[in-house]
Amino acid sequence: MAKITLSIIKADIGSIGGHIKPSQKLLETVSNYIKEKGRGLIIDSYIGHTGDDIAILTTHKKGPSNPKIHKLCWDAFLAGTKIAKSQGLYGAGQDLLVSAFSGNVKGMGPQVAEMEIEERPAEPFLMFMADKTEPGAFNLPLYLAFTDPMHNAGLILSPKVKEGFKFVIMDVSYTKVDKIIELKAPEEIYDIAALLRDTGRFVVESIFSRASGEQVVSASTTRLHNIAGKYVGKDDPVMLVRTQKDFPATGEILSPYTITPLVAGFMRGSHNSPLMPVKKNTSISFFDGPAIVSCLAFCEKEGKLTESADTFDHPYWDYVREQAAQETQELRRQGFFGAAMLPMSELEYTGVMETLKELEKRFKIREK
Ligand code: F6R
Ligand code: MG
Ligand code: MG
Repeated sequence: MAKITLSIIKADIGSIGGHIKPSQKLLETVSNYIKEKGRGLIIDSYIGHTGDDIAILTTHKKGPSNPKIHKLCWDAFLAGTKIAKSQGLYGAGQDLLVSAFSGNVKGMGPQVAEMEIEERPAEPFLMFMADKTEPGAFNLPLYLAFTDPMHNAGLILSPKVKEGFKFVIMDVSYTKVDKIIELKAPEEIYDIAALLRDTGRFVVESIFSRASGEQVVSASTTRLHNIAGKYVGKDDPVMLVRTQKDFPATGEILSPYTITPLVAGFMRGSHNSPLMPVKKNTSISFFDGPAIVSCLAFCEKEGKLTESADTFDHPYWDYVREQAAQETQELRRQGFFGAAMLPMSELEYTGVMETLKELEKRFKIREK
């Protein structure tokens, strides 16, 4: 069987009318660049956007973290940035945080999710793209899809799925090198839950089948403000999930998105928002949000991709979107107050900190 690598590399390199969506010309520039310069290097590609982020999916035989693949995508984003600047798009090149490419886009701004797979006779997989949120947004949906029979009927009905999964979880507050822990489901699900509740710190990086050892999930983990040290937008994660047979079914992976959990992001990357499942190429709107996630299903054969199936483009998800809009409304009613806005450590702008510093000087100790 052929070994194929699936790579998603995504970045926000500018958008129309604020942080809404990239221009058509920008998308075409990135897409044409990949098609022309990727000849002989990649097998196939798909380029799309969710909110203001452009994601490049490529298939190839070079393995993860390959400098040529990463440079191809980096250069496509640079070519796009030129167009973004020429069109006066907002935030042109905003996620390209360093000036010179150095072998791997990890730590340079773009989000990355990659996996090398031993191709199955049929290879269905999902491409998730989220906007106005952070990598921890996938924590709960992944936990539920891989550990909970309330969402994954395969944990009861399929002997291979029942053997469980290994979670690789990263402590993203540690920025010098990768700091990871491996935990086994179902034995250690309470430990997994104890970590995954803290979405700003612990993030699922990958998941493996215990029946075969095969990789099922690869998710992006980069936190931009850990790289830049200042506000540069939320991280807007991407994720690859292989499905069916000995892995959870596509519908089991999708099931937890019905919950629309509250995640960090939304306006100025500083609020909580229900995570709304949306159709492909959806833009951003109300209060620079809400946080959105799209999911495209593909099959591939020796790296050749089918067209995508838009999993959240279905009447069921219209109902879920309606509910998410109502939840959003409830939360937005309390504006900046309490749980609507993120705690100090997670605010993406420094305004509150500066105000507190100034006010501190005016606080007085009252003598008894
Ligand atoms: C959130 C986001 C937007 C911006 C907001 C202000 O991730 O991108 O909510 O934070 O539109 O943007 P600036 O500071 O660029 O004017
Ligand atoms: Mg943006
Ligand atoms: Mg974005």
